Amino acid sequence: DKGNHRHFMQKEIYEQPVVVAQTLRSYLRPLEEQVALPDMEFDLAGVERVAIVACGTAYYVGMIGKYWIEQLARIPVEIDFASEFRYRDPVFTPNMLGVVISQSGETADTLAALRHMKESGLTTGGIINVPTSSMAREVDLLLPTHAGPEIGVASTKAFTCQLAVMAALAVNLARAKGKLTAEEEREIVHHLREVPEAMSHALGHDAEIEAIAPKIAAARDVLYLGRGPEYPMALEGALKLKEISYIHAEGYASGEMKHGPIALIDDSVPLIVIAPSGPLFDKTVSNMQEAQARGAQVVLISDAEGIAQAGENTIATIEMPKVHPLIAPLVYAVPVQLLAYHVAVFKGTDVDQPRNLAKSVTVE
Ligand code: BG6
Repeated sequence: DKGNHRHFMQKEIYEQPVVVAQTLRSYLRPLEEQVALPDMEFDLAGVERVAIVACGTAYYVGMIGKYWIEQLARIPVEIDFASEFRYRDPVFTPNMLGVVISQSGETADTLAALRHMKESGLTTGGIINVPTSSMAREVDLLLPTHAGPEIGVASTKAFTCQLAVMAALAVNLARAKGKLTAEEEREIVHHLREVPEAMSHALGHDAEIEAIAPKIAAARDVLYLGRGPEYPMALEGALKLKEISYIHAEGYASGEMKHGPIALIDDSVPLIVIAPSGPLFDKTVSNMQEAQARGAQVVLISDAEGIAQAGENTIATIEMPKVHPLIAPLVYAVPVQLLAYHVAVFKGTDVDQPRNLAKSVTVE
């Protein structure tokens, strides 16, 4: 049931403050101000390396997870598309934790990668939405998301719930590795608790985003830029737009722009810049300005501080609340999803059932 929403995708975008809160609730211990995981039969302190495997949108959660785990827990993380993982003959080292991420828990490539990890002797964990799925049954440690059923083929609420669980995993690894003080963990818990409200705030910009949609819908190509954990968000933004509006879109790491993609820029190319203010902001803005000097039509998604600094000469700005860098991907996912949604609605495509795509791909 879509309720009063026009599409399941819209309903699922709007459900995010609730389902992310629901997911976080099962990982946060309010009294101890700690982030907890379900009981497990192995010790996270022994983990020396993490290998993450996923497909599509879930893969971008893995990319963001690499930033988080490496930064917080100081252990190396590798990330592969499930379809590439097995066939590149990955090197397994002792004390490696394999992690799969999947909404359905049935994606054939990810399931095959999970089985390969297990056969190779890895301990495995899985961030999975469907608790009765094959992957949920086969992982050593199930880390459930509580997004509820996701009907729209393009993943939205499962993505942000996966991010919430990934943050919980990163914090637990960090604590187990002795890299996080109780005070630091308490601060992270506070920031994670702010997520649902910040997402609701982001949803409040829906009408502005809808107003930009016709301009984006008229483009042949759209580029997305981000740096650090917002780089995978740029990839996710481009994937969402491709999937449901059939407009060619690519995401780039801001710093890579000048090494090639800038050749694509002219005044017909919208450039969506995902850039919360903070340590990475100035560099991203200088990459954005290089593109603006070549005519790029910029939509800047940032907070008030970022927009005050760099919002000039853009076709639009979308103002997010000021949030801690750790939770920014969860909040910035909302405008990115809404933009793809409104462009597709404007173009009149089948938002919930895009051509050529399936919700769960059960062939390799
Ligand atoms: C797809 C869907 O092909 O599978 C994507 O269209 C999804 O939206 C991907 O991200 C992975 O699915 P799952 O169920 O493993 O998360």
